[in-house]
Amino acid sequence: MTRADLEAPPPSRPGTVLVVDDEEGVRASIRVILEGTCEVLGAESGAEALEIVRTRDVDLVMLDQRLPGETGLDILPRLREADPTTVVVLATAVDDVRTAVEALKRGAWDYLTKPFDVDAILMLAGRALDKRALEREVLCLRSALSGTADATDGFEGLVGRHPDMVRVYQMVTQIAATSATVLITGESGTGKELVARAIHRRSDRASQPFVPVNVTALPDTLVESELFGHEKGAFTGAHARKLGKFELAHGGTLFLDEIGSLRPDLQSKLLRALQEREIERLGGTRAVPIDVRVVAATNVNLRAAVRDRVFREDLYYRLNVVPIHVPPLRERREDIARLVEHFVRRFARECRRDVRGVSAGAVQALTRYDWPGNVRELENVIQRAVVLARRPVVQLEDVPLDVAMPETASLLATDGIQPLKEACDQFERQYVLRVLERTGWNVSRAARHLGVHRNTILARLAHWRLQRPASGPDAAGVRL
Ligand SMILES: Nc1ncnc2c1ncn2[C@@H]1O[C@H](COP(=O)(O)OP(=O)(O)OP(=O)(O)O)[C@@H](O)[C@H]1O
Ligand SMILES: [Mg+2]
Repeated sequence: MTRADLEAPPPSRPGTVLVVDDEEGVRASIRVILEGTCEVLGAESGAEALEIVRTRDVDLVMLDQRLPGETGLDILPRLREADPTTVVVLATAVDDVRTAVEALKRGAWDYLTKPFDVDAILMLAGRALDKRALEREVLCLRSALSGTADATDGFEGLVGRHPDMVRVYQMVTQIAATSATVLITGESGTGKELVARAIHRRSDRASQPFVPVNVTALPDTLVESELFGHEKGAFTGAHARKLGKFELAHGGTLFLDEIGSLRPDLQSKLLRALQEREIERLGGTRAVPIDVRVVAATNVNLRAAVRDRVFREDLYYRLNVVPIHVPPLRERREDIARLVEHFVRRFARECRRDVRGVSAGAVQALTRYDWPGNVRELENVIQRAVVLARRPVVQLEDVPLDVAMPETASLLATDGIQPLKEACDQFERQYVLRVLERTGWNVSRAARHLGVHRNTILARLAHWRLQRPASGPDAAGVRL
């Protein structure tokens, strides 16, 4: 999608109304009534009206029923054909209810009765133009999402179509063009930085720098000079003037990651920078004006940090102008298969491996897992699986044990160790599933490998309420 798609619709394009009436007096009076709110065009006949609708972008057609030659009702379907988005209203005589009903049947949006009432015309035009504006907005959002949310690369590199993610994309689309400060919240690895980059790329700052700063990745003593820069000699070791990230992001976007970890004194300094739109380098004496859009991110609950007095309340409100929450992966499990496909494709290409898909069993296991490290963890697991896979389709055995058998891992990780019987049952389930997958869900062959009767397997599957995936081993898997 291009920037041009986003620029539509023009924010407040005045509407265009076409009055189709053979009486010059009627056309003139409507022009007077609507003057100032929209552009009014006139046509004396149906033929002339059709010509105008074909060549101009008309929002509302006020069509008189009694015209010389063909009637309004006759013209109506052809007007709608010429531009199906145009709103048509038929003007009838007060007592002509039948015509009004017929008009609605033929696609008129409403009807008006003659003689006209000034307020009725104003209200009708207002309603019609609002409807058109809303339709344009929907079209714009749809075009912003189509071809991007559907492609494997997703929306600006964000894969996923869960309604909550679509809401994130819509929000990004909506606010990108403004310079409002954004606070992105979400657990680690959910894609906060990708969202920040999407905001930048879709803004009119896209050709200017996007500068990320992770305050936790810097030694405490360096954070201030990283952000605000320093003058030569500002402190021991400051051999030359250094520009801070604020200045480097001038004209662009500054991404402040893990903002919750910012030291209290720097929180005050940041607040000042945001309010005054200027900064002072360390050891400097004059203020430097900055034009920077700030997007901040946090994986801690900043509101709680404010309550605990470790984060300044005024800074919180200053940053939280537009909040965007990125949900954890376990709350959008239906996106997992899509992400798996995306990562398999990517790593197969990058690592030059002939891997073209993931088995149904592996996808099932990946979908069930809770992903505490979110998309980043999934990304790593798929990279490893693609590199280690011995066949073109990634199998359950290529998935790390703690992902494929989270129950076992959590049993060992937690203090609440469970009875051996439960642990064995869980192990047995995973093991039987793996063997079944290996044999393409041929229960008899799996039974032979496992040295049990096939009825034992069928009974166990029933006990675990598990079924063979749809049809064939890879039916519900991911294929590229
Ligand atoms: N929806 C997604 N589609 C594709 N890749 C994603 C998606 N979300 C995250 N990723 C990938 O997962 C990794 C982590 O994403 P990112 O760095 O944006 O997360 P984060 O929320 O900033 O994490 P942290 O809190 O740890 O900084 C990146 O490699 C990113 O490309
Ligand atoms: Mg991050």
